[in-house]
Amino acid sequence: MQQSDGHSSTAEWSPASWRTRPIRQAPHYEDGAALAAVEERLHGYPPLVFGGEARRLKERLAAASRGEAFILQGGPCAESFGEFTGDIIRDTFRVLLQMAAVLTYSAKVPVVKIGRMAGQYAKPRSSDIETRDGVELPCYRGDNVNGPEFTAEARKPDPARMEMGYFQAAGVLNLLRAYSRGGFANLHEVHRWNLDYVRNSPQGERYEELASQIEDTLAFMKACGVEDNAPQYDEVEFYTSHEALLLPYEQALTRVDEATGRHYGLSAHFLWIGDRTRQPGGAHVEFLRGVDNPIGIKVGPTTTIEDLQKLLEILNPEDEAGRITLISRMGHSKVRDLLPPLLEAVRKTGRTVTWICDPMHGNTTTSSNKYKTRAFEHVLDEIMGFLEVFEQAGVTPGGIHLEMTGSDVTECTGGPRCLTDADLPVRYRTFCDPRLNAEQSLEIAFQLSDRLKRIFEKR
Ligand code: PEP
Ligand code: CO
Repeated sequence: MQQSDGHSSTAEWSPASWRTRPIRQAPHYEDGAALAAVEERLHGYPPLVFGGEARRLKERLAAASRGEAFILQGGPCAESFGEFTGDIIRDTFRVLLQMAAVLTYSAKVPVVKIGRMAGQYAKPRSSDIETRDGVELPCYRGDNVNGPEFTAEARKPDPARMEMGYFQAAGVLNLLRAYSRGGFANLHEVHRWNLDYVRNSPQGERYEELASQIEDTLAFMKACGVEDNAPQYDEVEFYTSHEALLLPYEQALTRVDEATGRHYGLSAHFLWIGDRTRQPGGAHVEFLRGVDNPIGIKVGPTTTIEDLQKLLEILNPEDEAGRITLISRMGHSKVRDLLPPLLEAVRKTGRTVTWICDPMHGNTTTSSNKYKTRAFEHVLDEIMGFLEVFEQAGVTPGGIHLEMTGSDVTECTGGPRCLTDADLPVRYRTFCDPRLNAEQSLEIAFQLSDRLKRIFEKR
């Protein structure tokens, strides 16, 4: 079909066809030969995930589009090579499990768990240049591209970083797979998922209560003769995701799936297109058009109905359920006005999508002491606004997408401990956007739980 921008969505696609399209947010590598060598090696390495897993995730996301599941996607804004420790991975995984337990218990539908983890190393930036004390340097674009340190050397894009990113993603993924399948996620361990530093907070205590209820339920079922050693008790499905921003890396990890003969981007299960790179004729859309993964599209205040309709046509011409997740990120003060016309327009196309809410990226502000921050109440308000829009439209919402961590950071203000601007410097550790800490994340799950109970009961 001929697009009005002159591009054809049925034109020949190849893993490299994005290279003929205009591209935004791409680093410039000075040493083309070094880049090519890294790409070639990456292309020879084992893929990180398997196409069958991506297909299974697509089925789960399709269930969410029908109101039969709820998606919880979360993790740091940017993963960092310097913070490559088992503790950080474990604690974030734990909080996601806790949140999923809270949400499953209230909504009574499966919660699809997706980490922004094991590959979230490339960042789009609003400015190419960062200025500090009058000194200008190229911006930091994520550890897969350059270093966060404010020196000319660190800020130079280095292709060798992509290889480092691959190996670190493999390490993170390995541990996530071990935790998912090796007993850590066993439902009988619900109490153990509570982090020590959260245990004595109101959120930790409320979680303990819920964990006890889950244990009682399991004991009751066992007494009734239901076997409690089924894999459903012992294992969780946990998927990985990141923004498919650095296309040389994504192309190098694209493979043809043996079972289907189709291409998959095997750097992660779920890949999304950011708000800055979603131009229908652009390179990122072109790349994602040809891989068969489930994909996300960020939908922000500047997204037009026309572009959204075009994107759905280009990226999901056959209207396959589970293929497209629309990630709304409007900002708390705009979501109630800007989302309804887009939701309605998509509905009118008759196409299947799964809508989820990213309450982070439309709510970034600068604190009085110059930290990039977000207010907990704005994050919560955007989720509530999103749910209201869906209730009014009579559509079941698909899920949420958070920037969060299991670490005890002080990056977002407000929340259970009423953090103020003055608290931000205490443990401000993010390399990019501010994340909800464990207590703030759990509080979001609790605040959401009553609403979800009502929404899913009504279905
Ligand atoms: C992100 O998810 O980290 C991000 C940059 O989001 P967006 O593209 O919505 O701004
Ligand atoms: Co971010």
